[in-house]
Amino acid sequence: MSERFPLPSSPRESRAETADGDVIDLPRPERVRDEQPSAAKILTAKKESSVMTEERFLHEIDRLKQQAGKIAASWMSKYEEAKESDLPQLFNKFEEFLQKRENALFSLEIPDGLDPRIATAIKHFDKNVTMSFGNGTLFQGNGATAEVYEVAGHPEFCWKFVTNQEKYNVDNHIRVEFNLLNKMRGLQRGRVRTPEAYFLRIHPRDGHSFGMERVEGKNLSQILEHPEQFPEFVKIAKQMDRTQVLQEVTDFVHAMHTEKGITHGDLFRRNIMLDRTGALFIIDFGKAKRHESDTNTRDMAREKDIACVNSEVQSFFKGIDNLYI
Ligand SMILES: Nc1ncnc2c1ncn2[C@@H]1O[C@H](COP(=O)(O)OP(=O)(O)O)[C@@H](O)[C@H]1O
Ligand SMILES: [Mg+2]
Repeated sequence: MSERFPLPSSPRESRAETADGDVIDLPRPERVRDEQPSAAKILTAKKESSVMTEERFLHEIDRLKQQAGKIAASWMSKYEEAKESDLPQLFNKFEEFLQKRENALFSLEIPDGLDPRIATAIKHFDKNVTMSFGNGTLFQGNGATAEVYEVAGHPEFCWKFVTNQEKYNVDNHIRVEFNLLNKMRGLQRGRVRTPEAYFLRIHPRDGHSFGMERVEGKNLSQILEHPEQFPEFVKIAKQMDRTQVLQEVTDFVHAMHTEKGITHGDLFRRNIMLDRTGALFIIDFGKAKRHESDTNTRDMAREKDIACVNSEVQSFFKGIDNLYI
């Protein structure tokens, strides 16, 4: 029999109690879209039109605006000033420009110290990226700004693909998120760790993405919100020793703060995954920070991380206990 935690009589998810007994407000979880891939649309638009038509020109300008506003504006003014008869030539020049930009900016970066077998596999499967994005059967989940796909033909890898670059950049650049996840390599407490970071893919047209170890599991929200779809995970969760899990998760977050100098900032159920072996993974370093310079801000962020993860894990198990399937 697994042990149960004591739970507050009426748990409020936006508040939690710290170790000193203070009640603090937690950041509200972000509203996310329905779980369905949208990367398909982005890539179909790209594939359908290899010839530079006026429609595609405007579509590409819209995309360019998000990454390089001034350059997009300069092409737009050329377009507005051009005579009708000069447009085909302008579109051709723009196509050439896009190709050059893509060649110059595309990069695939692999962190030092990655297992050489994994590094070799990665170098060979770049073409599988575009095959994976938008493929519903490979879709793993999404948040407010990104979608995650299993890599076609390589189930041990997945890619996080930024779908809303503008919104995503408000918190972190993808390079920052990737580096923070990579920094977490090797940290483990009991059965709690992060997926391993594998590679960063900077691509001006496809959008930026990074690759990591795929967790063969579901996030805690998916399990709780769709228990009928994931009965095996409900069963695993019901059998877990809650006191031990809570202790390991807390120890892990504490070690992330003190050993790695990282605060996560988004430790909600959607960002905690459970796999088939009963291991837990902390994911999504999109709002994480390293070496917060002001110690007051840092201490508050750390306290919020601990309070948030405790409250989320406890309410997850409370939900699981109320399920009879
Ligand atoms: N390593 C992974 N393995 C399997 N699924 C993952 C992995 N990382 C993320 N996911 C799934 O994709 C979802 C979105 O990923 P996340 O990093 O949280 O994106 P966002 O920053 O948009 O919230 C997660 O909630 C989870 O369901
Ligand atoms: Mg998330």
